[in-house]
Amino acid sequence: MPPPKFKTTELIKIGNIELADFPVILAPMEDVTDTAFRLICKEFGANLMYTEFISSEGLIRDAFKSTRKLDFDEAERPIGIQIFGHQKDSMIAAAKLSSAANPDLIDINYGCPVKKVVSKGAGAAFLRDIPRMVEMTRAVIKAVDLPVTIKTRLGWDDDSKNIVEVAKRMQDIGVKAIAIHGRTRSQLYKGEADWDTIAEVKANSEIEIPIFGNGDVINAEQAIEKFKIYGVDGVMIGRGAMGNPWIFSQIKALMRGETYNYPDINERVRVCKIHYNNSIKIKGETRTTNEIRKHYGNYFKGIANFKPWKMKLITAENTEEVFNILDLMALELQ
Ligand SMILES: Cc1cc2nc3c(=O)[nH]c(=O)nc-3n(C[C@H](O)[C@H](O)[C@H](O)COP(=O)(O)O)c2cc1C
Repeated sequence: MPPPKFKTTELIKIGNIELADFPVILAPMEDVTDTAFRLICKEFGANLMYTEFISSEGLIRDAFKSTRKLDFDEAERPIGIQIFGHQKDSMIAAAKLSSAANPDLIDINYGCPVKKVVSKGAGAAFLRDIPRMVEMTRAVIKAVDLPVTIKTRLGWDDDSKNIVEVAKRMQDIGVKAIAIHGRTRSQLYKGEADWDTIAEVKANSEIEIPIFGNGDVINAEQAIEKFKIYGVDGVMIGRGAMGNPWIFSQIKALMRGETYNYPDINERVRVCKIHYNNSIKIKGETRTTNEIRKHYGNYFKGIANFKPWKMKLITAENTEEVFNILDLMALELQ
């Protein structure tokens, strides 16, 4: 029996940007969610995507590593550019530079837990100082004409889960949507994401802006469950989408009351090649061959006898070699 048709509520919007009844969002991930991969996720139904986080300091120094992250394809819309930083002037300048790249929205990263970032007072460090977070956010909102959203965590640590207050303060100063990763900064990526606290934000009758839940969604069933149980306005998926863009179309299938098939080896090879080709257009062959290596394990997760093929793939040195190995593998592992 197919599952019952998913009952959607209303069209979720960020400012004037129409997303979907139940948006499924690709989480920003450094070194993963570049244009090459985002284009694939879009094709499979992601309703909103973001660039990898971009250092405000890097952007204003015109550092290539940062400026190249501003690039996106028109087909990716709606797209947000995510920036992070600790200094107001740099963030204002970075927001303006990002806005000039003409994305649909600007997102501020208030969730990064990495020591290098928080020790300077950026990312999740803002959760320890709400007045500073308010001041920074206000400044960015004032600097651009685009909607500004934020992505953050539940709080700094277990004793200071302040997201309910943070969400309301952010809404009051004009933030247009909030994505919440259900962990504290202290947790880093450990333990389980706490969706009950995300639900508390959503349950606050004063909250009107969309609240997107994030954390540990690794299959389509879980995404639907999160919406039903926790009432979030959308689900954001990070690691569950790595090498698994099918998760977006699977969620959409469940919403329509349909079932779905898991991608077979031919389909996985097909999409892996698209990823590779997308990447070549942007980064060239050498960088693509090196950087795509980290994705193979995810694209072929769960495929019996993949291990020896993985060894071949990660040592392949050019497109011809990679594609030959993929083709042979598809034949052998049918
Ligand atoms: C490799 C990696 C890179 C990440 N980079 C970013 C980033 O640039 N910006 C950001 O807001 N979050 C970043 N995150 C956090 C994710 O967006 C997401 O919040 C987190 O992985 C939890 O969601 P998940 O369980 O669906 O992966 C990153 C996570 C991973 C695993």
